[in-house]
Amino acid sequence: MEQRFVSTNAQPQKDAFHSKWQAPSNIALVKYWGKTPPQLPKNASLSLTLSGAHTQMEVNFIPMGSPTKKVSFSILFQGKEKPSFRPKLEAFFDRIIAYQSFLLHYNIVIRSHNTFPHSSGIASSASSMAALAACLVDLESQLSPMAEKLRLEKTSFLARLGSGSACRSLQGPAMVWGIHPSVVDSSDLIAVKLENIHPIFTTYHDTILLVDKVQKQVSSTTGHKLMHNHPYAAQRFSHANSQLASLLPVLKNGNLDAFVPIVEKEALDLHAMMMTSDPYFILMQPNTLYIINAVWQFRAETKIPLCFTLDAGANVHLLYPSDVADSVKLFIASDLLQFCQDRQCVHDVVGAGIKKY
Ligand code: PMV
Repeated sequence: MEQRFVSTNAQPQKDAFHSKWQAPSNIALVKYWGKTPPQLPKNASLSLTLSGAHTQMEVNFIPMGSPTKKVSFSILFQGKEKPSFRPKLEAFFDRIIAYQSFLLHYNIVIRSHNTFPHSSGIASSASSMAALAACLVDLESQLSPMAEKLRLEKTSFLARLGSGSACRSLQGPAMVWGIHPSVVDSSDLIAVKLENIHPIFTTYHDTILLVDKVQKQVSSTTGHKLMHNHPYAAQRFSHANSQLASLLPVLKNGNLDAFVPIVEKEALDLHAMMMTSDPYFILMQPNTLYIINAVWQFRAETKIPLCFTLDAGANVHLLYPSDVADSVKLFIASDLLQFCQDRQCVHDVVGAGIKKY
């Protein structure tokens, strides 16, 4: 139990409260894959915060006469009731109630919208859990004043309990989650912002190529579990931490020749873990590999530092600096969209994190 995150002084009020926050998605450069309860990472991870791909969340907290035993809530996604979202939210509220017991005095009406295309294969758990946590902490700070630092830390703490990677979506341009000897104040409980990032990364582009828009066959929850007793787990966790150590100076000096191989190796390491777990599985698709090969060829021919990373799915994230954005977008349109479902992609850039809207 993390005592400093328990809302001991927050007393429920008689008035309703309305909160609106938006939170972006993030893309991990050093991946989190493997955890122990309650959502504690087995290695430190590092991500760039996005901006265009985000969730807008509106929450109404309606006071009730007497407290309930479990948090009472309803969820509307893109304007429609979403019963399939309830189990994950119920588990989330069960996990956080020890830290925000005043929630038992409210009926919580959640309205959520994503800016990225629905059923695009882009995971929305990071942006939605970060936005929800921001609304919950907004209410808490109304009930009992909180210093800005504690507000941010508690939001990250709660977001993590909803979806691990969500704790990295609060600030930008780059965040680290998980204890790491080279990152001051790093923690397994919350993500921290990396300071003094080279300006090239503050406007970095991420174009998400939608290779496969269907729900992935293996959820990240299952994938994380398969890292228990994985033959390469110990090496993977320590290697991820050393990749992160190598990336830190690069994020400060902007050396893209060093950036590209670290990022691509991390993506392939993540998928190598999937291919060598028991049971084994492959989330990449033939078109994922066509794209990767086309990116390598383009880079060799043009010397433009375009690189890729992958999440737990077949879609490819293309990362590149803004000064080459025009050439890369032409290349995407002429050579890569043919490998995407319905020729769809999402152009995004690095951003600054959550905000009230
Ligand atoms: O936050 P989760 O439980 O959905 O796991 C995210 C895992 C990856 O997206 C594959 C890597 C990461 O660090 O974001």
